[in-house]
Amino acid sequence: MEAGSGLEARITIDVLATERHLEREREELRALLTRSLPRIPSRYFYDAKGSRLFDEITRLPEYYLTRAEAAILERHAGRIVEGTGAAELVELGSGSSTKTRILLDAMAHARRLRRYVPFDVSETAVRAAARELAERYPGLTIHGVVGEFDRHLGHIPPGERRLVLLIGSTIGNFDLPEAAALLKKIARPMATGDFFLLGVDLVKDVHVLEAAYNDSQGVTARFNLNILRVVNATFGADFDVEGWTHRAFYNTERDWIEMRLVARHSQRVRLDDLDLELEFAAGDEILTEISSKYRRSVVDDLLTECGFAIQSWITDEDGLFALALARRVD
Ligand code: SAH
Ligand code: AVI
Repeated sequence: MEAGSGLEARITIDVLATERHLEREREELRALLTRSLPRIPSRYFYDAKGSRLFDEITRLPEYYLTRAEAAILERHAGRIVEGTGAAELVELGSGSSTKTRILLDAMAHARRLRRYVPFDVSETAVRAAARELAERYPGLTIHGVVGEFDRHLGHIPPGERRLVLLIGSTIGNFDLPEAAALLKKIARPMATGDFFLLGVDLVKDVHVLEAAYNDSQGVTARFNLNILRVVNATFGADFDVEGWTHRAFYNTERDWIEMRLVARHSQRVRLDDLDLELEFAAGDEILTEISSKYRRSVVDDLLTECGFAIQSWITDEDGLFALALARRVD
């Protein structure tokens, strides 16, 4: 009881993203679903089930991204913590905060661990991570924010000596103009000299890339199809989840993986909250995700354009994944 209440006292969670049925979201989805290639925003993957499926993906043999990034962190966390002097971590798209522990351990080891600010659209993920980390690190204060990148970054509480993280290749789920817009939003409240750690997946052999998104156990397929369940529940829609299949391929012109859903047969879908009815023919597709793969020069240009200067570029031994440690500059 004592320990439990002590734990709660160190955790604050601000929930900003509960009202999903906002007019703006309906309008956005209507505009995207009525395009010639219909699209569903990737953030709808992450209800409680989708967040669990993503965690399963991170442990798949084909999904090298998480292991490669964790290997970089294991090797360099001490130096990153030393070089940045960070006492607080702000993590955008924190999910289960699993790899974060490598950095938190290094901060605890340096006796400098003060506060962790996980920011994610998934309330279950933020709450579970906050509890687990408060238990693991006595004295750590956690201020979670359940919000969306495009609307709620301004609600992150102010702090000092902080390192901002956008790891796990989450930036890859945005095209270049969207990625630049997001990075500028992240940079705006940061002070000159503040540090930013960005995790990007690198361009590589197409077979390796495509296998990571077409795993043999079908977990990625279930993750992809789950987005239809979320849209059904959120917008009063009646997508027949069984009527769609998973497709993922590498687009060599854009350097990104595209995940799509393909209609197994012709069908009509009604979205009550959007007052919209859609007709799909067999073989019609819906784009659910892009996952951009980067070259160093592109990351350099992107960070420079958005008010950052790269301090170090660290890759794993196999050159699969990279962490760019950058500083906010004037
Ligand atoms: N950082 C973790 C999780 C990456 S998965 C890792 O490296 O494993 C991407 C995370 O971003 C998910 O937890 C998802 O819920 C969150 N996310 C996706 N789109 C978002 C958005 N628009 N706003 C806030 N969080 C988002
Ligand atoms: C969260 N994001 C970086 C993952 C990715 O690799 O683009 C999501 C994912 N999609 C399919 N598998 C994993």
